[in-house]
Amino acid sequence: MKNLLSITDLDRDDLETMLSLSEDFLHVTERDIPKVPALQGKVVVSLFYEDSTRTRISFETAAKRLSCDVMSFSVGSSSVNKGEGLRDTVQTIAAMGVDAVVVRHSAAGAPNRVASWIDASIINAGDGSHEHPTQALLDLLTLRRKRGSDLSGLRVAIVGDIVHSRVARSLVLGLDAVGAHTTLVAPPTLLPDSLEGWPVDVTHDLDSLLPELDVLYLLRIQRERQSASRLPSLREYTARWGLTVERASRLKPDTLVMHPGPMNRGVEIAAEVAEGPASLIKEQVTNGVAVRMAVLYTLLGSGGTVA
Ligand code: ASP
Ligand code: CP
Repeated sequence: MKNLLSITDLDRDDLETMLSLSEDFLHVTERDIPKVPALQGKVVVSLFYEDSTRTRISFETAAKRLSCDVMSFSVGSSSVNKGEGLRDTVQTIAAMGVDAVVVRHSAAGAPNRVASWIDASIINAGDGSHEHPTQALLDLLTLRRKRGSDLSGLRVAIVGDIVHSRVARSLVLGLDAVGAHTTLVAPPTLLPDSLEGWPVDVTHDLDSLLPELDVLYLLRIQRERQSASRLPSLREYTARWGLTVERASRLKPDTLVMHPGPMNRGVEIAAEVAEGPASLIKEQVTNGVAVRMAVLYTLLGSGGTVA
């Protein structure tokens, strides 16, 4: 395996292997000195054309914990501002000798283009509304740590701005691969025109689902991707689809609440629920580092040992 561009690059066995390896790396991250020499000498570049807090820092932390050398590219202070295009930028970076490039871009398919231009391993860190495979992996790892390695039959609802969400696309496919059952919940204007081929049920009615769910996964309204106003108002959205304290009280006592971040507190999720005992939001972030260590190790594995 050279690149990770889509969650579908991993079949069910690959997924299980990646999640088990992530658990091993989670133990490494819990040590006093959470660092192993496994990828010493490898060079990893984070190439982010779109804003990020957790994915970027998580990848850079993961690479450092594997003893890689890490280079960080920021569009704002690069020659992109002098008109340099994506292809010239990545070929310039590749000419310095890099082993992996972690790409986030607002255009769907940008990481695939990058992969066709250079020899380094390419990891998709979120491309437009298309995919965010390491987010799906860290979500599956988080569920697995709560519910055990058999996630089949788990009832999951993904709620919110599905049409713009790369998180939803990757997660739906990942959940399907492990045998979980997903329902998408959104106003009609925030669903894709066609859901043909998506292994999901769909409803506009969150309230009727609440008592049956094992996992409630909230998405942010992607205001930066809204071409036309798809919502009457955020207040109305919260009233029908937000996880308010009152709605949370109608969940089963063991329903897990997840969100990829960043959150709009008070819009898709109440602050009290985000901080509450059912929330896995901080664990998702912690698990992200271990997952990204596993991905880098799998793609760049030098034959060194994990421990
Ligand atoms: N951080 C996630 C992403 O980049 C989710 C979001 O921004 O709402 O896709
Ligand atoms: N979940 C996620 O991708 O967060 P960032 O946009 O902060 O990286």
